[in-house]
This record gives sequence, C-alpha cells and structure tokens, in this order.
Amino acid sequence: MVSTAATSVVSSASPETAGTGHSPYLHPARPRPLARPDRCSASPFPTLPALPGLPGAGEQVSFVRLRVPLSIANVGPGFDHFGLCLEGPADVLELRRARAAALEVYGDGGVPRDLKRNVATVAAQELFRLAGEPYRVEARLWKGYHGGSGIGSSGASAVAGALGAASLLALDGSKSETLSWVLQAARKGERVASGSDHVDNAAASLFGGFTLVEAADELRIHRIVPPEGLRIVVALPDLRVETRKARAVLPPEVPRGDAVNNASRAGALVLGLLRGDLPLVGRSLVDRLAEPYREVLVPGLPEARTHGLAAGAWGVALAGSGPAVFALAPDELGTEVAAALANGFAEKNIRADTFISRVGEGAELVGWG
Ligand code: HSE
Repeated sequence: MVSTAATSVVSSASPETAGTGHSPYLHPARPRPLARPDRCSASPFPTLPALPGLPGAGEQVSFVRLRVPLSIANVGPGFDHFGLCLEGPADVLELRRARAAALEVYGDGGVPRDLKRNVATVAAQELFRLAGEPYRVEARLWKGYHGGSGIGSSGASAVAGALGAASLLALDGSKSETLSWVLQAARKGERVASGSDHVDNAAASLFGGFTLVEAADELRIHRIVPPEGLRIVVALPDLRVETRKARAVLPPEVPRGDAVNNASRAGALVLGLLRGDLPLVGRSLVDRLAEPYREVLVPGLPEARTHGLAAGAWGVALAGSGPAVFALAPDELGTEVAAALANGFAEKNIRADTFISRVGEGAELVGWG
C-alpha cells in the first residue's frame, strides 16, 4: 500500500521538528512552501568551497549546535564522487565541553549509542585527535532519519561530529588544515559506519549544493550551486539496505562499455549543471557501475523509474546505495512524480513515503556559546 500520510519517524524532541511532531520532509507528495528564492551560482565554474562559518578562531567556546542536512550520493553516474545536498531532513548535534565524554541519541535512527561506534562521536574524536586535544565532550544527537535508507544519514552525522569538534575547538575555518581535518575526521566516521572511505555524502552535507570529489585520496572537492527550478523528489521504500552490504554486491571489475557510459554521463551531467540545462542533468542519471548490481536489494526500483519518467521526471536513480530512489523534476511536476515513484514500489507491494526537497545549502552552525 502506498502511504501518503506524514510519518512520525523523527523524535518530536528534535530541534528540527519541535512543535510539529513529525519531519517536515516526510509528507504527502506536496511541494513545500518556498522558504527563499532559488539561487544560481554567481560563477558558471565550480568553486572550491570554504568551510561553513565557525566561531571566531581562538574564541572560547564551550558549546556548539549544528544542523547538517542529509544528502544523495552518486547522483546517477558519479559513483563515490558526486553528491547532492538535501534541504532536509537534517541531523542536529550539540557538543559541550565536559569532565568526561558522553553521548545521548534522540530520534531513533537505529544508530549506536556507544561513543566508539557512533559515527558523530567517532568523527568528533578523530578531529580532537588530529588537533592534539583530549576529547572530553558531551554529545547530544538528534537523528534526522534512520540509517540504511540511502539518503546519507551517516554522512550527515560524520560531518556534524567533525565540524562540531572544529567549532568547539574554535579552529580557524579559513585554514586549509582545518578543512582537511574536518574531511579526514568525517571520512573516519563513514569508515566506521560502512567500512569504506567514500566522502561523497559527507562533502554534499558539509558544503551544500552539488559536490564533486575530484580526488578522494587528496580530499579535493568542488561545489556547484545548481540552477533554479531543480527539485529532488525522494521515495523512501519500507526497506533497509546497509551500505556495507550494498558495496559487497559490486563486482571488482566492470565491462569497458559500462565504464564508458559512466564517464560520458558524468561529464554530461556536470555540463548540464553548468549550462543550466536541467533535462540534460536528468537524462544523465544513468549508472551502470553500481545500480544494476543493487537492483536485487531494491525491488521496485525499475518500476519506480518507469513510472517516474512517465510522470515527467527529468531522470530517476537510486539514491546512494539505496533503497531510497530519487528523481530530478521541475517544480510543477513534483507532486505527480512523487506519487509515480510510490506507485512503482506499490507494484511490488512495498510502501514508500515521499518528500520533495530543494537543493540544500549544507552544514550550518546554529548556536554556540
Ligand atoms: N557512494 C556510496 C555508495 C554512497 O554508493 O556505496 C553510500 O550512500
């Protein structure tokens, strides 16, 4: 059955959802009211991002609170190197200096409560280690959405931990060393969660917009602010896929034709973003390196794609390692496309919630003192 009811998956105690009792990002297929005008990149060229605002370098900080939106990795052909930031849902993390390290988690999320296994605290501890500081921090984490969903829950937590720690230490955000530490620490968090070093989700959650990991080993990242009018329609089927398992189904080698497909599609997608050609971006969402092998884990994916395209989506693809599926669509078709994606899953008797998001602007420090 297809659900169109708002789903209460996030703790009502979350600062994200206070007063509503449910996530604003899980709702019937209905566009959200415009929060602010769309923004276009001032420059048509990718820009090297700067870290989101940190407290003044060297300032005495005993408490920070961050909001970090979730994201969609791969974005079709960009396996492990493309990412697209959502406006929400988002993780919220508070870090406070204390006598001893501690962790509280709200909003279910099914995430570990153990400091050494929770992605946010692993990343925060790694940042402290890199900075040569003892980790004595109380952490409170409100999960925006549970893991195993495909919309970068662990990437958001990893960024929250790493950036939160850098903020608490009042590191200089304009220094490349700080940026490098934040990315390294976030990557450590992701490694603990999935056993792999991918930073595509983390890059998008941190910087917002569309991100391109140019060289994963050197942690070089570019950001493009996508053109106006792009809506991300997400369907969350009632399935769980662990990234670790979704990576285990991938073959170590791929046929040359598939590699060529992904290289050309990835190039076309970036070109489409820079030119503001959204139909080109959408039709470039064709991945032959990962998605075909992951279809076994996500029944309903081919049907969701067929229905989504028929409803007018520019393109449809698996979100990260799934099971979420996303479509890129014009604003006015968001509702129809969301219903179509859900109908695709319904054909396999799988319930799917949907939401429509603008492109998000990345991690935000929302309080400190
Ligand atoms: N690039 C990663 C993968 C993202 O596809 O395994 C996981 O969300």
